[in-house]
Amino acid sequence: MDQKPREQQLAEPLVMTMLMTPEMANFSGNVHGGSILKLLDQVAYACAAHYSHQYTVTLSVDQVKFKKPVKVGELVTFYAQVNYVGRSTMEVGIKAIAEDIHAKSSRHTNSCYFTMVAVGDDGRPVTIPELLLDNPVSKARFVAAKLRRQLRQEHDATMQAIDLKWTEQLDILTEQEIDDALNSELQKGGVTS
Ligand SMILES: CC(C)(COP(=O)(O)OP(=O)(O)OC[C@H]1O[C@@H](n2cnc3c(N)ncnc32)[C@H](O)[C@@H]1OP(=O)(O)O)[C@@H](O)C(=O)NCCC(=O)NCCS
Repeated sequence: MDQKPREQQLAEPLVMTMLMTPEMANFSGNVHGGSILKLLDQVAYACAAHYSHQYTVTLSVDQVKFKKPVKVGELVTFYAQVNYVGRSTMEVGIKAIAEDIHAKSSRHTNSCYFTMVAVGDDGRPVTIPELLLDNPVSKARFVAAKLRRQLRQEHDATMQAIDLKWTEQLDILTEQEIDDALNSELQKGGVTS
């Protein structure tokens, strides 16, 4: 990555409205979760590429909550914003609102955060402009996104430790140790067997 002083720039919000068409439906007639995820990924890409003027790839996505089903025939509007910029990464927050045009009603269906990485022609991360924070809302969004970034790193480390102990190095545990751990987890509640 180059070491030149970085420019600063504002992040413009991105809004995209899509009609939910029949090929997006699952067996119950509602829009398939995967169809929504694909649209969210495209919105995140458009928002991050527009900010960075670079090709971007999805590094991670978190907090996708399907709060309400989306029906075929509804309009879904995605509101996206770059909340945080690192050296090559951007956190893009997206909120989806579904609108039933016949009932003249709308509801918040999904919210999520994508981490996008700007990459060069070789597919390696490139340095992008710093985010210009010129008002309290953008500053607060940046703080929240930075806290989420830290949380993601801690979460990644914990997940890796779990994988290492309970999958990759399973052969070094005794059957007794596994039974003890299982009993301990069952006693904590919330697990059915
Ligand atoms: C995204 C990618 C280029 C990053 O490569 P990398 O070797 O990890 O790059 P770096 O170590 O230089 O990290 C680049 C940035 O990603 C961040 N990053 C990398 N791994 C991370 C992780 N597990 N969690 C959070 N951030 C991470 C780094 O902190 C760094 O951020 P910064 O530049 O803003 O400081 C690489 O992982 C990749 O090509 N992934 C596949 C992307 C893709 O195909 N997406 C579509 C999937 S269907």
